[in-house]
Order: sequence, then C-alpha cells, then structure tokens
Amino acid sequence: MTAVTIELNGVKIADDVEPRQSLGDFLRDRCGLTATHLGCEHGACGACTVVLDGKATRSCLSLAVMCDGRAVQTLEGLRTDAMMERLRRHFHESHALQCGFCTPGMLIMARDILRRHSRPDAATVRHELSGQICRCTGYANIVKAIVAAGQETAQVAASEE
Ligand code: FES
Ligand code: FES
Repeated sequence: MTAVTIELNGVKIADDVEPRQSLGDFLRDRCGLTATHLGCEHGACGACTVVLDGKATRSCLSLAVMCDGRAVQTLEGLRTDAMMERLRRHFHESHALQCGFCTPGMLIMARDILRRHSRPDAATVRHELSGQICRCTGYANIVKAIVAAGQETAQVAASEE
C-alpha cells in the first residue's frame, strides 16, 4: 500500500492505496463518490471524467497514487459551482439525457469546454465532445444544452462588466 494525500473536493484526505488502483475505483469504492461512472475502463467513453488539477481527466486511466499532492474534483464537489448549476439547468431544459450514465462525465467535460471557449458554437462543442460517448441521446440535445449554457455564461459576464 502507498500513502497518498489528495485534496478531494476541497478537503485534504490521507489514505493508503494499492499502487495499481485507478482514481475512478478509489473515488467510488474508497470515498463513496459514485457520481463518477465507470464505463469502458480503458479511456474510450469519458463517463469517468473528473477534474484533476483544474483539467478534465479520465479517472480510469489515472492511478490514485499519481494524484498524491494534487487536487481532484468530482461532480459531488461542484454542486455549488455557478457554471455547473447553469449546465445542469440547460441539460434538464434541453432534455440532454436519457439513461444518464454518461451525464456526469458529459457535465464535467462541458464545464471544461466552457472554461476554455467563450460562447462556443455547435461545431466547436461537437469537436470538443468527441471523446465522450453517449449511447442514448444522439448528442443533438447535449450540444444544444452546452451551446445555450455558453451563451448564458457570456451574457452573465457582459452584465457584470
Ligand atoms: S470509464 Fe474511463 S473512459 Fe470509459
Ligand atoms: S444518456 Fe444514456 S448514455 Fe448518455
């Protein structure tokens, strides 16, 4: 076992982990943070996406030991995040989910896209989402929701200037 200290959703935690345990398994099995979904477990679907040191990262491809001294955020830690609140509302209003399995990863990636692109158009969102797989929706409403959240974000930013 290897000792790690991780800032998890803003709280420093210390634990002993198996060197081969993935971050996704650590979050779900050890920390009880089950909003992070594991689909393919080999980097292909994006369901397991979390935020690692500010960047969207696949938690099935990262080992928990690699996160020693680093900051991890999961969907649970973004409940009060303004951008995430906006995205959740637009996903709801645009019917951007069906079974919901991909949704946590989609939301984390959507937030990452909106942090890197101001007011992205549908083509940009589609390109950026190309690593996230949804088996249900056909993507149209997911893209619509993210574009709408980006427009609202830009309007809020303009009104605060
Ligand atoms: S579970 Fe990590 S990319 Fe599919
Ligand atoms: S809503 Fe079912 S996989 Fe995306």
